[in-house]
Amino acid sequence: MEKVIKQILVLNGPNLNMLGLREQEHYGTASLDDIEKSVKEIVDKNGFSVEFKQSNNEGEIVSWIQQSINNSSGLIINAGAYTHTSIAIFDALKIIDIPIIEVHLSNIYAREHFRKTSLISELATGIICGFGKLSYELAIQAMITNIQKTGKKINE
Ligand code: DQA
Repeated sequence: MEKVIKQILVLNGPNLNMLGLREQEHYGTASLDDIEKSVKEIVDKNGFSVEFKQSNNEGEIVSWIQQSINNSSGLIINAGAYTHTSIAIFDALKIIDIPIIEVHLSNIYAREHFRKTSLISELATGIICGFGKLSYELAIQAMITNIQKTGKKINE
């Protein structure tokens, strides 16, 4: 019998552990824990599960992306500043064969010039940015709907 893997991986890059304290005019007042809580509520309601992780370390994020190959049916990623710089994360994302949603709290196209380039966007199924905590809520909802429609099937 075939079943859909229902785990979604949410990865957060550098400095996102400082949300709530960090540049509130761009990132709002919610902490990463607050965001994780709301994401989990949405996931629970829909019968999915989520792994929600943060690292300030590029290599660790690369390893988590690699591990998603066998464990997850979708990846939501806010790579923070690595969005604009990391070829290692770009290469890791190219290996995996699951839908990717790129998320940002702020509208990266309405800020400094260097933020307008994302190495992740061309690999993403979709991009959500500019809505603060709501960006993550929209992303998880979009991912659930996407998996329900096109979910990766495995043999049970
Ligand atoms: C960010 C935008 C990035 O440019 C920045 O480096 C971050 C956060 C966002 O969520 O708006 O760390 O990814």
